[in-house]
Amino acid sequence: MRLQDTFVLALPALSVAFPGMAGVSSRAEMETYLRERQAESSAEKRQLLGGVVSGLTGTIGALTNTVAGLLGSIASSVDPDNKRPEPGYEFIAPGPNDARGPCPGLNLLANYGYLPRDGHVNFGQVLDATARGFNMGADLAAVLATFAVLTDGDIATESFSLSSVGGVGGLNRHSTVETDVSPNREDFYNGCGDNHHLSSRLFKQNVGFAAADSSKQFTLDVMTSQYAAQADFSKLYNPYLYFFPFPLIVSLGAFAFYPNFFSNGTYLAGGVANYESISSIIGAQYDSTTGDFTYVPEKWPENWYRRATPYGAVDALVDAFTTVYPRNIIVPAFPQLGTPNLSPQTILCDIYMGLNSITPLAIAGTEEDGAKAITWALTTLAPIIGPGTALGCPNSVLSPDSGFALFPNASQTGGPGSVPPSSTLHTGNNVYNKVYFATPPTKPTC
Ligand code: HEM
Repeated sequence: MRLQDTFVLALPALSVAFPGMAGVSSRAEMETYLRERQAESSAEKRQLLGGVVSGLTGTIGALTNTVAGLLGSIASSVDPDNKRPEPGYEFIAPGPNDARGPCPGLNLLANYGYLPRDGHVNFGQVLDATARGFNMGADLAAVLATFAVLTDGDIATESFSLSSVGGVGGLNRHSTVETDVSPNREDFYNGCGDNHHLSSRLFKQNVGFAAADSSKQFTLDVMTSQYAAQADFSKLYNPYLYFFPFPLIVSLGAFAFYPNFFSNGTYLAGGVANYESISSIIGAQYDSTTGDFTYVPEKWPENWYRRATPYGAVDALVDAFTTVYPRNIIVPAFPQLGTPNLSPQTILCDIYMGLNSITPLAIAGTEEDGAKAITWALTTLAPIIGPGTALGCPNSVLSPDSGFALFPNASQTGGPGSVPPSSTLHTGNNVYNKVYFATPPTKPTC
């Protein structure tokens, strides 16, 4: 049973104990009331959480209390049109042949039929579903989906798999769009190739940062602490850490996606990045008997509202590079880093210029195939970040041999052209209802 379900089931018992509760006039009043009750005593909190805490160790007991403290209200002001799922989109847990991988946002959309339930998706479907389900800006979705098609998918059909196809390609493919230093997935090498299941120990750490914050929520600042801790971990324990331009942007952006896309309501405009929303959307179910998080299919919580305004490429880059990244720099291949020239425009320009010089790694075909693929990607991105657009490179800097490669030294160990030994295990579709990484993988145990 999900923690939030347990919480809801406890409501009738409370109304008997406190008859005045029946008279509360609004949901907000009721929730305030419940929060006050929760704070009253740790014994009462434990009862609310299912009563299975006697005999637990101090650590697990502390986490139980932490989680209780993070239960919160839903967004205060919401437009009913933004309630998700919409009628006709029903949650169905994925079957063993349905592709689900490292992206909780896309996994969830497939679980409701906003994307094909088998997890083989095309460019247009992704743009449509991410806007409809989460209000992702079309520019951000287009940039992500272009790189997914280019490096993990099939250009002819403009499609890709949410995990991999027979262990090859798809979003599980390392260091193309998928990347090390993720919010709640382990690094490819240390995880023996498991870069796609929710890591229990990472989410525990994440809950700890939220609990330590006065908001008790998964704010951008809290997610930045999660980033800084994982960046330290990767620097220390992952000898094959590979952190280059495009995957780096996805990694940093993903930390900002937590509050901005998973909040109930619009983050920073009355929405709440609370535990109910985050844990449900990323599929983290607390097991009070072990203190671990079981990975379950990604699901919207009850009464959830998507953000009211689009969150696009510039928003993501600004959050990523002005808030998340400065907390713990991992030196990549952006020449403007550390200079006043770093801006969303110069970053996007690097990417656009980089496209002029890369060979798409998923395409094991002829040079002609490669050229076609690059042409496709450049044409798709040109209206968004190409020359002459607000975010584009000034024409004067574009040159076919600009020297920037999107995946520099791709064949160095850890790079997309050379996966570390021991990491070919554990690819494939997500397997749910299990605990992954109860302890930190300081070295691969394959
Ligand atoms: C538009 C197409 C999208 C593509 C191609 C894509 C791809 C990916 C990939 C490859 C990862 C793994 C990155 C890593 O290893 O850290 C990832 C992670 C993530 N994605 Fe997506 N994504 C897309 C859309 C979305 C949307 C719409 C959301 C939110 C609503 C989202 C939220 C996230 C989050 C939060 C993570 C980090 C997961 C974690 O480690 O906890 N993505 N995505």
